Amino acid sequence: MPNPQLNQHGELQHLLALRGLPRDVLVHILDTAASFLSVSDREVKKVPIMRGKSVFNLFFESSTRTRTTFEIAAKRLSADVINLNIAASSASKGESLLDTIDNLTAMHADMFVVRHAESGAPFLISQHLNTTGRHHIHVINAGDGRHAHPTQGLLDVFTIRHHKGDFSRLQVAIVGDILHSRVARSDIHALKTLGVPDVRVVGPRTLLSPEMLQMGIRTFNDMREGLRDVDVIIMLRLQNERMNGSLLPSAQEFFRNYGLTPERLSLARPDAIVMHPGPMNRGVEIDSAVADGSQAVILSQVTYGIAIRMAVMSILAGN
Ligand code: CP
Repeated sequence: MPNPQLNQHGELQHLLALRGLPRDVLVHILDTAASFLSVSDREVKKVPIMRGKSVFNLFFESSTRTRTTFEIAAKRLSADVINLNIAASSASKGESLLDTIDNLTAMHADMFVVRHAESGAPFLISQHLNTTGRHHIHVINAGDGRHAHPTQGLLDVFTIRHHKGDFSRLQVAIVGDILHSRVARSDIHALKTLGVPDVRVVGPRTLLSPEMLQMGIRTFNDMREGLRDVDVIIMLRLQNERMNGSLLPSAQEFFRNYGLTPERLSLARPDAIVMHPGPMNRGVEIDSAVADGSQAVILSQVTYGIAIRMAVMSILAGN
């Protein structure tokens, strides 16, 4: 089946998920992002790549990092940015998602950045645009349900490449609520495509996903085994808003067994890096001594997110 994100020439038309995205497309995005890093250091932090284009930020779910860094990235590319206030929009009066999209395309939107609680919402929009002949309008998934968060996956592998250089000998542990995590899924697809030989997930049985076995991912229920000698630790937030019923005794119990403390971090390689997509819950999945410690690269991830989002938007815009 053809990849719905690529046009007939194999070029990126939408960014919906990292699953199935060819390695050369991933590497091209990472290399383009590297070239944009220096823009943030300039006195005039702008390039004219998307001058005259309109980017619509449609966040149907809350966000701090993703929404803001998409806005910064679009402005650095000289695009006009429109942040739809969802709570005050017609969506709150019962207008369907696709009717909202049709009205915004009538305002000459060039790109939609979409976050939605329903898995597949950005795909639905991209199909609607394609089947109604609006191929020039691009959709970027900014996180849909528990399905995918492709720009987070990209900025995570960008951060790993920046600190570790080569993917071919790395051991990467993703820890916590794997079951509900779109970040874990996007990270795993990107890491596997880039050739990381050992991607593992660590967490309680109730928060691991059976699909991990099909993806060739090792699973661990014990932090001491799961973290031993790894190069990268990616901590995840407990996604309470996506849990149906009680999957855990308590947040304190979770921290006792799976919280990343300095003692547990010492099981990893001495130069291991600690990552977290945010928002971070101190004392639930991560101890402050680790979150603020010398091995944490959590705030660098946020900064690299701007370059990654600039890269994705500029590639989609045809540059
Ligand atoms: N990592 C991430 O998606 O954070 P926000 O929810 O703040 O966008």
